[in-house]
Amino acid sequence: MTADEIRAYLEPRRHEFADPRSLVMPALKYAQTTRGHLSREDLDAVAEATGFTPSFVESVASFYDRLYTQPVGNRVVSVCITLSCMLRGSDEVWDHLCEKEGIDHHHGGTSADGRITIQEAQCLGYCDKAPCIQVDADETLGPFTPDSAAALVDELRAAPDPEEYWR
Ligand code: FES
Repeated sequence: MTADEIRAYLEPRRHEFADPRSLVMPALKYAQTTRGHLSREDLDAVAEATGFTPSFVESVASFYDRLYTQPVGNRVVSVCITLSCMLRGSDEVWDHLCEKEGIDHHHGGTSADGRITIQEAQCLGYCDKAPCIQVDADETLGPFTPDSAAALVDELRAAPDPEEYWR
């Protein structure tokens, strides 16, 4: 994405942000819509469009777990591992999904076909539906068993890719 495209996106929203530093987040989120992660060029374009240094922009991008500075799968599945979900079996859900997708149990990651990323998440504010999963940082669902979580991943793999990656 180019700096001009990001400027055009930010311009009508600029008045919503009293502190110009607050523009960096929506700019990064918008830049991520094209390919689902932020390339070096995207980070530089955000820096140019917002007037902040590339290192500042990169520090923001690397802080938030819904901004990706490395490629991720077409669909991102976040398994909550915080207490309420853990007490209700999120470990089993996590292990089952990682095993099914051939992904490292310790760190999560992306399936060999590039379709599915499994990652850990902290409390998603859905504790009464524990253990829960968030899809593409958008929809939070639950409760899951290992088998129903695997069925969800199968559905996501079969579904068409999102037109834009708002994560
Ligand atoms: S602990 Fe999982 S949603 Fe709160």
